[in-house]
Amino acid sequence: MSFREDFLWGGASAANQYEGGYLSGGKGLAVADALTGGDGIHGVPRTFIAKMPDGTMKKFGNMEEVPLGAEVIVDENTYYPSHVATDFYHHWKEDLALSAEMGFKCFRMSINWTRIFPNGDDETPNEEGLQFYEDVFKECKRLGMEPLVTIYHFDCPLHLANAYDGWVSKHTLEAFKRYAKLLFERYKGLVHYWLTINEININTNFMMNGVHDHISNRQNAEQARYNLFVGSAYAVKVGHEIDPENKIGLMIAHGVSYPYSCDPKDVFAELDDSRHGKWLYGDVQVRGKYPQWKINELKREGITLDKDPGDDELLKEGVVDFYSFSYYSSQAIAAKTDDKESSAGNQSHGVKNPHLQASEWGWTIDPLGLRITLNEIYDRYQIPLMIVENGLGALDKVEEDGSVHDPYRINYMRDHIQMMKDAVEIDGVDLMGYTPWGSIDLVSAGTGEMRKRYGFVYVNMDDDGNGDLSRSKKDSFFYMKKVYESNGEDL
Ligand code: BG6
Repeated sequence: MSFREDFLWGGASAANQYEGGYLSGGKGLAVADALTGGDGIHGVPRTFIAKMPDGTMKKFGNMEEVPLGAEVIVDENTYYPSHVATDFYHHWKEDLALSAEMGFKCFRMSINWTRIFPNGDDETPNEEGLQFYEDVFKECKRLGMEPLVTIYHFDCPLHLANAYDGWVSKHTLEAFKRYAKLLFERYKGLVHYWLTINEININTNFMMNGVHDHISNRQNAEQARYNLFVGSAYAVKVGHEIDPENKIGLMIAHGVSYPYSCDPKDVFAELDDSRHGKWLYGDVQVRGKYPQWKINELKREGITLDKDPGDDELLKEGVVDFYSFSYYSSQAIAAKTDDKESSAGNQSHGVKNPHLQASEWGWTIDPLGLRITLNEIYDRYQIPLMIVENGLGALDKVEEDGSVHDPYRINYMRDHIQMMKDAVEIDGVDLMGYTPWGSIDLVSAGTGEMRKRYGFVYVNMDDDGNGDLSRSKKDSFFYMKKVYESNGEDL
């Protein structure tokens, strides 16, 4: 058996990195709008600028360091890549047409919370924002593409971060519930595929989640994580109630991890790292409860979660229909790391794997790891899977005639799709779709760079905001079109 006839081939994006129009049409500010660009290859991080309680301005490399009471601001003399990004806001018709031309059956995008509720918790929603997405979804349908909609992708409203410490607070959770419910009501019949919270398991995303103090304050970190789980379960439950046709998935960064060696200490280190980094999130959202090891850990550390009555039932009722995840690379985990080179990548906390090559940004390239990942998830949960992000962030060169030759990207795609094919045909994994990341160039989340490109369509925009935003097809565009039109047969 090859790929399903109704396989959802497509591409993926997120508003905070793609949409731009950061104050257009009544939109408010999100945390991502206050993050500067960085320099990934040279290790320069993205930064926030905050107004301190004494009125002075200070720069921070992480929300973690911004003290409560300081206000993260958007400084008018600073360049912020999300403000224009690659301007889907004004190019959506062209981008959807290009995607349909490539043979997409599915277009993954996210809704910007602050386009609907500018402060996150406003009394009434912003109709102009709701209408914008309605128009986009209708156009997707007209072109034969199912929208796959992420409700929350790294765009905590800045007001909720500054005033409520983001997801630590129940106020943010309640605001999210209203926001999610409204989306299901408004887009009933138009959107059938949803993802609740993007990469819920990536701890650096606490920054995007507006949580100030998550490293030294474990209580806050665990409460924010818990609130995210409850918010996701609520969205699944209410989404099913509003339209039983809705298919709702989770979103986990799921790179496979290998023990660095067969030393049982390395094997246990990998097990422990994987259950903290991935399986906890899958278990809660697929099985509907915290695993026992985590309950024991919280007890041991004296952490008590602030639960509301009915939460346990909600977690059980809000289990997902499918397991969706991003896969870029793998990592090796060692018990003793101080004598080994660490590995790069915004999803990786392991050591360098001597058997694998890496991208220019240090992310390992591991196609077989994708087959392993598909098998390990399917063996564990036995529900349909969807790969909602995958791809190679690379430096592209535009030739004089405007063409972009990107054989490195084509090779990456071919090798990974072959592994999907093997997982489906040989291993019997139930895979329902594939939406590679940033199919039209967009801003990198980890580094804020434009030059770290994933797309099959090039967008003329650089790291400093120069460029006319025109779109052009890379060689990989034609390759992906061939793959999609042959339902993954012609690699
Ligand atoms: C995932 C995110 O972490 O990986 C995306 O869901 C992100 O938002 C993608 O863009 C690639 O990471 P980066 O840092 O290269 O943009």
